Amino acid sequence: MTLGSTYQADARDRFAPFMALDRLTTEQRDELLHGGTDMHRGGELCACFGVSCGAVEAAIADGATSLAAVGATTQAGTNCGSCRSEIRALLRAARLVKAA
Ligand code: FES
Repeated sequence: MTLGSTYQADARDRFAPFMALDRLTTEQRDELLHGGTDMHRGGELCACFGVSCGAVEAAIADGATSLAAVGATTQAGTNCGSCRSEIRALLRAARLVKAA
């Protein structure tokens, strides 16, 4: 039975290092179970530069408080602009969390 006609080489490459280990650390187990590190999580937000949602969230957590600041850090939103509304939504969500 074939589940799909294509496979993701990135996913295979991400799993390869884990296969060589006898035992996983907590961090390695979390990375494996959650689909990658923070920088890879959440899927691709900016198609122009291949920036993940996690990378934008990390930039915001590191102090980027505006669309321009996120763009300066990650390049997300600095080309076609179609991802800017998603970046703004993440900025708003971060402001709400910070205010709470
Ligand atoms: S998709 Fe982000 S700038 Fe084009």
